[in-house]
Amino acid sequence: MNTGAARLVVADPAVVTVALGSRTYHIHVGRGLLAQAGELCATVLKQRRVFIVTDSKVAPLYLGALSANFAAAGIRADHIVVPAGETSKDFAHLQQVLDAMLSAKCERGTMIVALGGGVVGDLAGFAAAVLLRGVEFIQIPTTLLAQVDSSVGGKTGINTPAGKNLVGAFHQPRLVLADTAVLDTLPRRELVAGYAEVAKYGLLGDPGFWSWLEANGAPALSGGDSAHAALRHCIVTSCAAKARIVAADEKENGARALLNLGHTFGHALEAEMGYGGDLLHGEAVAAGIVLAFELSARLGLCPSQDVARVRAHFTAVGLPVAPPRRGPRGAITPAMLIQHMTQDKKMKDGTLTFVLARGIGKAFLTDEVPRAQLEAVLTAALTG
Ligand code: NAD
Ligand code: GLY
Repeated sequence: MNTGAARLVVADPAVVTVALGSRTYHIHVGRGLLAQAGELCATVLKQRRVFIVTDSKVAPLYLGALSANFAAAGIRADHIVVPAGETSKDFAHLQQVLDAMLSAKCERGTMIVALGGGVVGDLAGFAAAVLLRGVEFIQIPTTLLAQVDSSVGGKTGINTPAGKNLVGAFHQPRLVLADTAVLDTLPRRELVAGYAEVAKYGLLGDPGFWSWLEANGAPALSGGDSAHAALRHCIVTSCAAKARIVAADEKENGARALLNLGHTFGHALEAEMGYGGDLLHGEAVAAGIVLAFELSARLGLCPSQDVARVRAHFTAVGLPVAPPRRGPRGAITPAMLIQHMTQDKKMKDGTLTFVLARGIGKAFLTDEVPRAQLEAVLTAALTG
């Protein structure tokens, strides 16, 4: 029996709670946690059946072990593998996933399991939200981005030609299992991109965490044994921050919108670049955060030293500090990006809401951004 050995490899598991009344759930963070998945998931299953959604890069790495672990716990596990990458977050793949679930005769008590990054989590979560008018799901995030952000908080959905995440549902998971060991196989570019969402929590409301990141962020991303504790701290602190915000404002009527720091710009950049892998979500968010701080400084709201600190730290960890200047349609212009921004979910009565900052750790929402200032910041970033 290897159950005992599996327990031994789980070092310092931490549990963060998302307090949502009867829908409260726990985020487990630990190294080697995947080997306990059957046991941990069994605590929330209604029937000993799950349906796993994963992608073509994650499946060869972790699907076999996870399925075997479920089997050892007496849990039947069916699965579907979608192509890796953002392009799977669309109607066609949603339909494939739903068809596979229905072909496997999933019932209302069958638990959907999202094994993968934010793409799989958003797609599987949305499928769970609409299958049989809603079934429960578990997140097993395998990227840093998914472990610190997308697996927590219940935002699920897909992209459409009009923009990112414009079709979806709030549907909270029953459980989140973040095994930090799976990050060992994540390509470095993906790891660094996910770090943009870690940095976001410091920048939006926790200057102490930001200072800690300035000292420890680069070592945390360096890999190897010494990095594990720092990376774990990044993940637990980020999940705790997100859990607090989601518990206070689940449906984004107020404070939760602060989590979109950098995203209005970032989503516009992603839409313009075409979701093909030239610009990863976290990279777009990083460039977007810098633009949000630059806009804040231009409006006289944020000290320029804070903008410099953001740029310096992002550069130190290998994140972009400027948007790409060319995309599939040629040179990217401010007008192109502003056109994408008008599809933003934070539009109110035709006016864009921005997340800006009065300094590091002091993000706030505003709809008072003169178009000329926005254009000036974008022009400087795209041509300066
Ligand atoms: P992703 O899911 O595309 O994963 C990135 C790449 O890493 C993929 O190629 C994947 O196959 C591969 N991969 C995943 N885990 C791996 C592992 N352990 N080892 C090796 N390769 C691995 O991208 P992502 O950055 O995780 O997520 C981005 C998506 O998340 C975007 O669609 C974004 O909109 C969404 N998102 C959602 C929320 C939310 O609250 N729901 C928040 C932030 C981002
Ligand atoms: N990633 C933004 C949110 O969950 O609200």
